[in-house]
Amino acid sequence: MKISFQFSLLLCSILIILFSCSNREGFSELPDQEDVEVMVTYEPNLKDACIACHITETPGVVETYAKSEHNPSKVSCRACHVAQEGDPTAQSHNGFTITKVPSPNYCAVCHPQEVAQNNNSKHAWTAFIGQYKPYYAEARKLGLDPLAQETAKLLDPEKMAKTVLSPLVPDSGILKRIGLLDDPEYHHNNVTLGCSACHGTFVIVEDDGSITGLPNVGVGRVNADGSLGSCSSCHTRHLYSKEEARKPETCGQCHLGPDHPQHEIYSESKHGNIYGAVGETWNWDADDWGPDDIDAPTCSTCHMSQFGPVEATHNVGDRLYWELQPKTSVPQWKGPDEVDFVLERVPDPEQAASGRKEMLAVCTQCHSTNWAEGHFREFDMVVEDYNKVWSYTDNLLMEAYEKGLVSKDNPLDETSEIYHYLIWHHSGRRWRMGASMMGPDYTHWNGAIDTNMRYLGLMINDLELREMIKNK
Ligand code: HEC
Ligand code: HEC
Ligand code: HEC
Ligand code: HEC
Ligand code: HEC
Ligand code: HEC
Ligand code: HEC
Ligand code: HEC
Repeated sequence: MKISFQFSLLLCSILIILFSCSNREGFSELPDQEDVEVMVTYEPNLKDACIACHITETPGVVETYAKSEHNPSKVSCRACHVAQEGDPTAQSHNGFTITKVPSPNYCAVCHPQEVAQNNNSKHAWTAFIGQYKPYYAEARKLGLDPLAQETAKLLDPEKMAKTVLSPLVPDSGILKRIGLLDDPEYHHNNVTLGCSACHGTFVIVEDDGSITGLPNVGVGRVNADGSLGSCSSCHTRHLYSKEEARKPETCGQCHLGPDHPQHEIYSESKHGNIYGAVGETWNWDADDWGPDDIDAPTCSTCHMSQFGPVEATHNVGDRLYWELQPKTSVPQWKGPDEVDFVLERVPDPEQAASGRKEMLAVCTQCHSTNWAEGHFREFDMVVEDYNKVWSYTDNLLMEAYEKGLVSKDNPLDETSEIYHYLIWHHSGRRWRMGASMMGPDYTHWNGAIDTNMRYLGLMINDLELREMIKNK
């Protein structure tokens, strides 16, 4: 395969040089079918018009494509890039009508199940759950379709995300205080290159045909054809590989940092240690993945992969019990197929219990039921402890508002408000998430200690001081 590809590249380059001297303009004068067959032995037929140019224009694309499973399976450039009817991103390109940003609708032609599962996940919806929530709520309020291009052009989701005073964009409190929140000269571009890089942008085809919101492969990208998500978040173009998606670094691109340090937690867990020590010997691209291929699980093993008898899922919520990210942890919320997911948060204990069962089925491929259940027993108690501390913290701030110790008008600019935020959003998440995935340091030092001693301790002292000053 490799040899014939390199050989064909050589032939191909020669032919292209000859051919491109006589013609750079149009597709109509491309070499005929026979020449193309010789040029590109790994992909016959006229489809290769794309490759004929792109082998020199963007060789990196063609080289990577040649290594992918799509190449031997004869999934051509055109299979993904020829624009579907009604896709606003369609553009004419050397005799073809292509899209430069094939959405999951294009993959769905051949991978309907993965796309359907992904559509039902928080991944697909996370731009709306995240930075575009104010936009989504406003569109619904006006009775408009939040996924429609017209609505996005009218309301400008990216701009709304940048100028709203909200814990969604936590520095908005201080920016408001110092007068930068509405300053047209302040770009807030950490939102575009931060939030939207992970959560996804809104891809908008402007009236002059230009496309905004690209490049972006955020996991909840809102595509111009109304579909949600970007498969490239985990399967980068043009490798489209299972192996890549099964490795923890792929998830760790977004799942890291002070508020959701899953990658760090995994790295410090026994599982992550084993991956680091012997992972390179594992069988990463097996079709039927199971305990004979790996010694310890990765993110995808526990959350997504087919593993032994456990079926694969592209809905990353399918194997969870808790919501560990909100202020108070509750069983998993009902999904987008049941409720208006972004705005309605309805705990679904039944789905949560089935998620726990599914996760346990993964663990028990390698552990006894006792061992695995022992872990969950301890973990659930951590979640309960956190909830107790949170309830105390939240009451404390509400009381302080009532007593007039803290002013309510800007919710994110006073010491106690800032600690209140850091407790649920940063340290309290680390505490819960560390415990869920066997990260002892994140459970204790970065979790419980930062929550109880550091932020809550400082908050209590701040409020006591304010009370003393007030009573003086
Ligand atoms: C006659 C040569 C030629 C042919 C045929 C051709 N392309 Fe291109 N294509 C180019 C060039 C040149 C560029 C611009 C590269 C650059 O900007 O560096 C390009 C750019 C692109 C882009 C990126 C567009 C953007 O705005 O970012 C895509 C996607 C693409 N081509 C896909 C295809 C596909 C799919 C086919 C076959 C259906 C194809 N091309 C056929 C020459 C060609
Ligand atoms: C399995 C589907 C698939 C196939 C097959 C495919 N592409 Fe793509 N291609 C994509 C997707 C998806 C993107 C955009 C990535 C994104 O933004 O999500 C893309 C992006 C591109 C770009 C822009 C990349 C950049 O970084 O500027 C070019 C150029 C391109 N494709 C050319 C090709 C050519 C040439 C072939 C055939 C050798 C090909 N593609 C085959 C799905 C595909
Ligand atoms: C025309 C049909 C077709 C389209 C369109 C298509 N694929 Fe595929 N894909 C295949 C075939 C065939 C295979 C190889 C057999 C298999 O694994 O199912 C494959 C395999 C894969 C694999 C597994 C590769 C591996 O390592 O085993 C991934 C991941 C994948 N495709 C992702 C995508 C994504 C993402 C898109 C859209 C951007 C897409 N495909 C578009 C047909 C298609
Ligand atoms: C480094 C990537 C990254 C950046 C940057 C990022 N997020 Fe997130 N965000 C995540 C991940 C990963 C989660 C999932 C946390 C979890 O469930 O454990 C998340 C969770 C969330 C949630 C909670 C969703 C829920 O179901 O309750 C919201 C809201 C959110 N982010 C909004 C934002 C906003 C707004 C910004 C920018 C101000 C932002 N995020 C920046 C990756 C990121
Ligand atoms: C959050 C990361 C992630 C995203 C986003 C993602 N995938 Fe996957 N995908 C995976 C993982 C992990 C696997 C390997 C599953 C396994 O081990 O069984 C996989 C496997 C696949 C396979 C191979 C299935 C098989 O049985 O061989 C296909 C096809 C696929 N994905 C298509 C898609 C499509 C289409 C999208 C976009 C709708 C997508 N994926 C988005 C992580 C992802
Ligand atoms: C040993 C299996 C295992 C591995 C490996 C693993 N996880 Fe988890 N993960 C879990 C369990 C168990 C939970 C908690 C499930 C529950 O709520 O009952 C969880 C929870 C989560 C959550 C949900 C947090 C929330 O907001 O509710 C995210 C996100 C997550 N994991 C991502 C990852 C990522 C990314 C990796 C790899 C860097 C990873 N996980 C590795 C088992 C695992
Ligand atoms: C491009 C960024 C990105 C990548 C890559 C990514 N995620 Fe996520 N993930 C997110 C964001 C953002 C959320 C928050 C979703 C929400 O709650 O709105 C999330 C949420 C989750 C959740 C919680 C789902 C729920 O229903 O509560 C799990 C579990 C998860 N991801 C696992 C993974 C795994 C496993 C991988 C790798 C195979 C992965 N993610 C790759 C951004 C990403
Ligand atoms: C692919 C096999 C595999 C899977 C799947 C797996 N584990 Fe493990 N796990 C291991 C191995 C191997 C060790 C190391 C045992 C040792 O220390 O000798 C381990 C260690 C552990 C430890 C001990 C951690 C420590 O710090 O000492 C716990 C707890 C654990 N696993 C729980 C789980 C849970 C819960 C699940 C499912 C969510 C799970 N494991 C899934 C293979 C697996």
